[in-house]
Amino acid sequence: MYKQICSIRLYPVILIVMVFIMTATLYIQNEIRPSYISSGIRINKLSELNLKEVYVKTYKGLVSMDELNNNVYKKFGYEIVEPTLPVPILRMIEEPTCEEVFSNWQTISEQPQPEYPPKQIPVEQQNEFLLNNYSALYPWYVNDKNSKKGEKPRNWDKLSEMINWPKNKLGGLAYGTDGVSMYNAMKFHRLDEKNGVVIGSMQPWVEISALVNGAAKILTVEYNELDIQDEFQYRMSSILPIELVKDWQVYESKFDFAASFSSIEHSGLGRYGDPIDPIGDIREVLKIKCMLKQGGLLFIGFPLGTDAIYYNAHRIYGAVRLAMLFNGFEFLGIFNGSSEMPKNLTSERLQSKGDLKFSQNTIVLRKL
Ligand SMILES: *[C@@H]1O[C@H](CO)[C@@H](O)[C@H](O)[C@H]1NC(C)=O
Ligand SMILES: *[C@@H]1O[C@H](CO)[C@@H](O)[C@H](O)[C@H]1NC(C)=O
Ligand SMILES: *[C@@H]1O[C@H](CO)[C@@H](O)[C@H](O)[C@H]1NC(C)=O
Repeated sequence: MYKQICSIRLYPVILIVMVFIMTATLYIQNEIRPSYISSGIRINKLSELNLKEVYVKTYKGLVSMDELNNNVYKKFGYEIVEPTLPVPILRMIEEPTCEEVFSNWQTISEQPQPEYPPKQIPVEQQNEFLLNNYSALYPWYVNDKNSKKGEKPRNWDKLSEMINWPKNKLGGLAYGTDGVSMYNAMKFHRLDEKNGVVIGSMQPWVEISALVNGAAKILTVEYNELDIQDEFQYRMSSILPIELVKDWQVYESKFDFAASFSSIEHSGLGRYGDPIDPIGDIREVLKIKCMLKQGGLLFIGFPLGTDAIYYNAHRIYGAVRLAMLFNGFEFLGIFNGSSEMPKNLTSERLQSKGDLKFSQNTIVLRKL
């Protein structure tokens, strides 16, 4: 009789001990096991520890992911979810909606601009432009706003000729072998029946590269009015950036692919009379992301190397800023002008030319 009462009294204790053991087990498992979030990005709960052990080369030398996370990413509204090398995978802490992306862009584009592109980065915006000094700064001033001999659109009336050009002539039109990387990327990721948008385009070599590799229709977003050859108007058209932005809902999640070569690295530096904006390039990629369907491809080429700004000529993208641009995309591969096969992005490839130099290849990303 006594024995029985005792064991009944112990039941709650046993229960509490069991719940404690189960909770502890779950807690420990969570600590070591990676968990998954809906976008498919792996979050490793151990990353706090890992971040201190993973180093990436910047112009300051080797810097730990933990330092970048605290001094750059968190300050700019991101955080590292996986310290992959050389470019970590980030999450944007509060991602703007497409409506915000387009309306913010419009607000900035409508601000009055100085008569001449500013000669220096405004002091109060230095930290934002230079990623809290994790980006180098070199002077290289160009005024393409007031210059009369600035580049004008060309060859939009020669499309039926260009479509028969070999890829080296096409890609080489403006950028030598570097431009051929765009063709190689589109050949590998065929564009059959796909509709695309091209951002920033003086000469139609990106558009023709896409058409030759199967694309059905292409919209070009360009600050200059373009005179597209009649025979091509059923599958090529153009629009001014401000018109597209005002009508953004028409273009939301509309395109299977987007392409841009040697354009966004200038955005926000004022060189072309555009508004000074430390994240002008990131805004462009956010707009592109809004225009792409889920799973849509982005073919993008800009100077690659170690993070730097040649003010106001262009940026150079290194591991630090690339991570911010890649947010919300999956990296599929990088192509150069002499190889038709994709390569992985490695520190060696990024920094192949040394600190102040850069190469301009085509990176392929997929919208998550
Ligand atoms: C970056 O460097 C400039 C000039 O040396 C300095 O004024 C500024 O405070 C630095 N910024 C940070 C975030 O350390
Ligand atoms: C292109 O990539 C291949 C393979 O990595 C390399 O051998 C070649 O030197 C690169 N070419 C250029 C022009 O960078
Ligand atoms: C690129 O990286 C992936 C995953 O790390 C690997 O499976 C693949 O073999 C690599 N490709 C090349 C060409 O090195």
